[in-house]
Amino acid sequence: MNKLWKGRTDGDMDALADAFNSSISFDQRMYEEDITGSIAHAKMLSKQGIIAKEDCEAIVNGLKGILADLKSGALPVDESAEDIHMFVEAELTKRIGDAGKRLHTARSRNDQVALDFKMYCRTEIDEIVANMKELTQTTADTAAKYKTTIMPGYTHLQRAQPVTFGHHLLAYCQMFLRDISRLLDTKRRLNISPIGSCALAGTTYDTDRMYEAKQLGFYDISLNSMDGVSDRDFAVELLSDIALVMTHLSRLSEEFILWSSWEFHFIELSDKYTTGSSIMPQKKNPDMAELVRGKTGRVYGDLIGLLTVLKGLPLAYNKDMQEDKEGVFDAVDTVNMAIKVFTGMIGTMKVCEENMLNAAKRGFINATDLADYLVRKGMPFRSAYKISGELVNWCIENNHVLENVPLNEYKKRSDLFDDDVYEAIDLKTCVEKRISAGGPGAASIERQLDYVKEKLGEI
Ligand code: ARG
Repeated sequence: MNKLWKGRTDGDMDALADAFNSSISFDQRMYEEDITGSIAHAKMLSKQGIIAKEDCEAIVNGLKGILADLKSGALPVDESAEDIHMFVEAELTKRIGDAGKRLHTARSRNDQVALDFKMYCRTEIDEIVANMKELTQTTADTAAKYKTTIMPGYTHLQRAQPVTFGHHLLAYCQMFLRDISRLLDTKRRLNISPIGSCALAGTTYDTDRMYEAKQLGFYDISLNSMDGVSDRDFAVELLSDIALVMTHLSRLSEEFILWSSWEFHFIELSDKYTTGSSIMPQKKNPDMAELVRGKTGRVYGDLIGLLTVLKGLPLAYNKDMQEDKEGVFDAVDTVNMAIKVFTGMIGTMKVCEENMLNAAKRGFINATDLADYLVRKGMPFRSAYKISGELVNWCIENNHVLENVPLNEYKKRSDLFDDDVYEAIDLKTCVEKRISAGGPGAASIERQLDYVKEKLGEI
């Protein structure tokens, strides 16, 4: 393809170098942003009297035609164009002649690509947030369904204290809501228009940057042209928001993988989200959860990749910055898929309440409550802790659980023990008695469910 930038240079580029230099294979994803941006630019130029009204009309109509043809597939992207910006401009000139050549007045590909990329990220943030909203809703609905389902809560992956499955899932809702708020925060900071910064040092034309910015949904313009073209903070922020979403999903993946094993058997994943083994007929593998856990690694790579690209760049634009896009595209695709798969997986899984309860019964997870029982009767916590530990040992040796230790064994260790001990260490009581704010008790669960509803309602 004939290079639009052929000013000083003569002779053709080496074919390999040309391919190496090209970004159209991936940046064509931003064609709509590019065209929308160019339409706003033409209108600004015309309003300011920099180009004639008739030229503006021809440009706008030409660009609209190109957009429609790209969308319908009638216009294939010419991969020999260097990038999407060059392709659109060349196609425009092909269609409308000289007027097309006026579009690039008072701008550069440097501010153009910053603009397009920002607009792309902004749209994707909305998409990710919408998907996260569904995920959070589905998780909260499932939590509400199992709000009294007792399960062991773990520390060090050792059974620790009783919680409910609802409480466990609501912990993830908190993470998801923070993810959403981080994404929206990124969007707010991102939403400042770089267009009009031109190559790096603005322009001598009397442009109206704010007019152009407003047309494109930005609330302000960048105040420094060198920062305008070289800022990629928004992409780093988006990548790190996505990386954290993936971290949360990866932790939940790990739990799903454990819970769906025979050893736990707390949940059964739907056949829709599992695979079989080609050799072991009994297998039902949690591949989706494993893949989400695995893909978290590549998303971290996308984040570190971009940070590394940027760290040594002098101002302003450098071609290194062309490397900013693929990682973001990859992370965006990956996270959207992961969120959707997870939403489906949570909404269709079977919860084995009996197994959760049985596991809760076997782990002495009411040992703290036993100690608290003695404390309430006046014993200092450390002494109560010791007696409770001795009783757990006795249970292990005699194959008992705390709930069926005979009263005389209790009394042997402290005469503060009475019949009411059994009620105090009943797992149901243990959960219900955890009345502290943010705990697994009924009132806290309702509060958490209300909070999710309120926050999701605000988006
Ligand atoms: N394809 C380039 C990119 O993605 C567009 C900007 C090119 N600017 C330039 N001066 N060569 O960054």
